[in-house]
Amino acid sequence: MTSPIAYFNGELLPLDRIRISPLDRGFIFGDGVYEVVPAYGGKLLRAREHFKRLQRSMDEIALANPHAVDGWIAEVGRLLAHHPGDQAVYIQVTRGVPPKRDHVIPKGLTPTVFMMASPLPTPSREMVEKGVACVTAKDFRWEKCHIKSTSLLGNVLARQISADAGATETILFRDGFLTEAAASNVFIVKDGVVACAPQDNHILLGITYELLTDLARAGKVRYEIRPVAEAEVRSADEIWLTSSTKEVLAVTTLDGKPVGSGVPGPAFRRMHALFQDYKARLAAAPATA
Ligand SMILES: Cc1ncc(COP(=O)(O)O)c(C=O)c1O
Repeated sequence: MTSPIAYFNGELLPLDRIRISPLDRGFIFGDGVYEVVPAYGGKLLRAREHFKRLQRSMDEIALANPHAVDGWIAEVGRLLAHHPGDQAVYIQVTRGVPPKRDHVIPKGLTPTVFMMASPLPTPSREMVEKGVACVTAKDFRWEKCHIKSTSLLGNVLARQISADAGATETILFRDGFLTEAAASNVFIVKDGVVACAPQDNHILLGITYELLTDLARAGKVRYEIRPVAEAEVRSADEIWLTSSTKEVLAVTTLDGKPVGSGVPGPAFRRMHALFQDYKARLAAAPATA
């Protein structure tokens, strides 16, 4: 099988030909940031928002951005020319390759930029129609979860808790309040009102989260952005996960107990329809970013 075309520091080449130095600070320290941008029929979903978030992540770690938003969109376009169909574009920028290993951030390094595209793993029909299982855990990650950092050990260990339990996600609580899940944002619904956690340093501000709140506003769905107590999650009528690859998914069991009536609820079905409609309009729109 031929290796797919990937992007490395401005060059397009087969993935299996890319070589990264072991001294790269991304490898040694996880000193880097990343993005995952979904592309539907070659059109990037909320490209500007993704690249603005990348800029915010880079600002937080004082990493110079090699491209402006339009430059990123153009570079992704070069990669996507080799990947037709719906794709997930993974973009990683690390601080680069210093002469030696030292925690202190060296000046003047050239960042390493890596991108790859793979078929977008959208949820199966069964997942959408039946919902998914989640478990819960204490949020043991750090205080800078708003940075989309490649240092993902906390998220990896959190996600593994659900993988070991045969569940789709691990929903996290910090000091008695909902934060997010290992690789998704979380919404709850009670008496027809949607609620999600505030956009602070304890969660990643998901592009899908923002899109959902925009769609809710436009669709006149009532929602609140506020601290959500653990007890509210456990007694919610509905729970949803959102992310670029999960879109919006209903959680129908939490720690083995049914959520609400145990099937995807009416608010989920409405939101899912609004999301699919948004995607269809994006795919049909002219090819501009
Ligand atoms: C920890 C975490 N929260 C939330 C999200 C959802 O973000 P987005 O909607 O931008 O994919 C992700 C996505 O991977 C994530 O890793």
